[in-house]
Amino acid sequence: MRVVMVAKQKGGAGATTLVRELGVAAAAAGKCVVFVDLDPQGTLRGWWNRRTEGVQGDPNPGLATPTPDQMPAALDQLRASGMDLCIVDTPPSVHPFLGAVMRLADLILLPTRPTTDDLDALPAILDLVEEAGRPFAFVVTQVPPGRSRLLDDAVPVLAQRGRVAPPLRIRIDFPVAAATGSAATEIAPKSKAAAEVEAVWHFVSADLAKLARKRARAMVS
Ligand SMILES: Nc1ncnc2c1ncn2[C@@H]1O[C@H](COP(=O)(O)OP(=O)(O)O)[C@@H](O)[C@H]1O
Ligand SMILES: [Mg+2]
Repeated sequence: MRVVMVAKQKGGAGATTLVRELGVAAAAAGKCVVFVDLDPQGTLRGWWNRRTEGVQGDPNPGLATPTPDQMPAALDQLRASGMDLCIVDTPPSVHPFLGAVMRLADLILLPTRPTTDDLDALPAILDLVEEAGRPFAFVVTQVPPGRSRLLDDAVPVLAQRGRVAPPLRIRIDFPVAAATGSAATEIAPKSKAAAEVEAVWHFVSADLAKLARKRARAMVS
């Protein structure tokens, strides 16, 4: 089982949107997915409850509800139960438990809006990520559609500090889908929003596959 964690400095970065869209895309690609919502606001949990109300059987993605200090044991249990992918949503990085949880991740995604205000907030979370020593990548979110000066300016700044995944733009399909516990890839599979999610999922899955190959080589040698 791989653990992907979404972390951010500021609320509203688009973290929960990224988590649920990636989880649904991964499940559609045949993975057994489980979410963990460590944000006390419970936005992911609320969406998942809307999604699974009245649903029979084990939903995919599922939801696990450990506290931050239960995370190591909870991940062991989920791994043993045959999950392929655990995606963890987190509160803004002021929460003291975040560093410890980051060390459990195979990949940390850092969603950020491409505005100066948001980019200025990144060094604090980057310090935590670099301390955790886990692979990470930025995901620029809520980019205005079309040619965007904001995106053009943000990407080189971010690229100096780490890898940059494909962006998600401002698309009404994201909040509309979320209202009914769905994802943009489900309510509008041919939309630009869906294509953007697929591109991020492709980036993430390629990264996790690379990790698997590296581990396999390490076991052989
Ligand atoms: N790419 C996007 N396009 C349109 N609305 C978005 C997008 N990403 C997030 N939102 C909306 O912005 C708000 C904050 O997003 P959310 O994913 O909850 O951020 P966070 O979890 O980082 O606080 C939500 O209302 C969400 O629906
Ligand atoms: Mg959130």
